[in-house]
Amino acid sequence: MVNRVDYKILIIKSGGWIFLLLTVMAVFAQAGDKIVIAHRAASGYLMEHNLPSVTLAVAMGSDYIEQDLVMTKDDQVIVLHEPTLDRVTNVAELFPGRERKDDKFYAIDFTLAEIKQLHLKEPYPNSGRFPDTNKNLQLTVPTFQEELELIRGLEKTLRKDIGIYPEIKQPWFHRKEGKDISMAVVKILREYGYKSQEDKIFLQCFDPDELRRIHDELFPVLQMNLKLIQLIDDNNGNETKSLQWGEWINYNYDWITSKSGLRTLSAYVAGIGMDKSMLVDKAGNLLLPELVSDAHSLGMVVHPYTFRREKESVPPYVATFEELLEFFYFKVGVDGVFTDYCGDAVTFLQKRAPGSVNEPAVEGEGREMLPAQPTVAPELPQSPEMSQTVPVDGPGVTPVAAPLVQAAPVPEPPVPASTPESSQVPSPSSVSPPGPGMVPIPAPVFVPEPLIPATSLPIEVKSQK
Ligand code: G3P
Ligand code: CA
Repeated sequence: MVNRVDYKILIIKSGGWIFLLLTVMAVFAQAGDKIVIAHRAASGYLMEHNLPSVTLAVAMGSDYIEQDLVMTKDDQVIVLHEPTLDRVTNVAELFPGRERKDDKFYAIDFTLAEIKQLHLKEPYPNSGRFPDTNKNLQLTVPTFQEELELIRGLEKTLRKDIGIYPEIKQPWFHRKEGKDISMAVVKILREYGYKSQEDKIFLQCFDPDELRRIHDELFPVLQMNLKLIQLIDDNNGNETKSLQWGEWINYNYDWITSKSGLRTLSAYVAGIGMDKSMLVDKAGNLLLPELVSDAHSLGMVVHPYTFRREKESVPPYVATFEELLEFFYFKVGVDGVFTDYCGDAVTFLQKRAPGSVNEPAVEGEGREMLPAQPTVAPELPQSPEMSQTVPVDGPGVTPVAAPLVQAAPVPEPPVPASTPESSQVPSPSSVSPPGPGMVPIPAPVFVPEPLIPATSLPIEVKSQK
């Protein structure tokens, strides 16, 4: 093995050309490792979370397609950003009187057959996004299985591996409603062949206790070990709650971004995700200057959200969406971004790649921290309607009866009881930190039934290809 001294001798003897080669390789590796996560599919172009939008996100070259997951009354897993249907469907028109006391329509109160009668509407109808005419275009809420089958089909015809980035939404809410969404999601993933750290998937959740449960209890039962992403919320959100003395209390994330918190996480997650405003303030100052380098030193990736190109979504310390991407990818040093505009982000990274005319000087590639940036109000080349972001209801609907896609069921394994009252700070794990590497997705596999005994091992799987 060549040691560090040998390398110096080699570089000197080679006249420096090896040093140049290594530098170019390092720059290429840095740019090449950056990923684009299609936030709620190609939501900036074709509404969020529907099958055509997924196809578009794939065609645009996204590395990963995000699926937010919630459950229906009849235990189906659907792709919907929040547990309520109001914002993106015509549920209020089609099912008047089915709302709860808070005036919201919860997916968990509807069967999949009912939800399939709804059609999607653009939540930002006058923003310059997809025109929401609601006349003949009937986009519907997909099931998780439908989306996975679409992706598997496109992987075959496009001859490429397509990453998925599912998010288990609000396990505490589903638990309160008597449903184990995490088990439902991981079983579907297992059925479709996602089972190891090498598979092109990041499984994300805001709930630290639930991620720990998935890693320590569900994965061993199903013989899985996927890359996990810990999402970090502020302490005022609804994403994570625990039942304490009969009351649902917001999770306190204060421990999680410290070096020791990250070290604890690194025992079982592959990376972290957070709102970009947690990393950079409105003046462009880094709020957690050590976070990205600490995460990298522990082998974790950092994927902030959500990057949008509408004027009001571009922070004042940059002038354009592309400057925002430049700032986060190459100054803050994050490994990927969730963006509604996946196509624009893919184009940005392509232009930014070594050899491109837009490639910056090598010295600009570093991950050093920036000083405060001038606060310049951005003016983007968008349509004049771009500033409106208030969701509005759409007009009428023609019910659509869609067939259900049923995957082979997996027998219920013995899952330990959930622990909503458990400690918020996970205990250290003896499991090695997962690596962020990506390799092609294997063929879908289905778990034959009945297979999982009380001891749960081993599970025999069959390839579908
Ligand atoms: O999951 C990452 C990001 O999507 C979190 O934000 O609210 O869009 O799910 P949200
Ligand atoms: Ca999400």
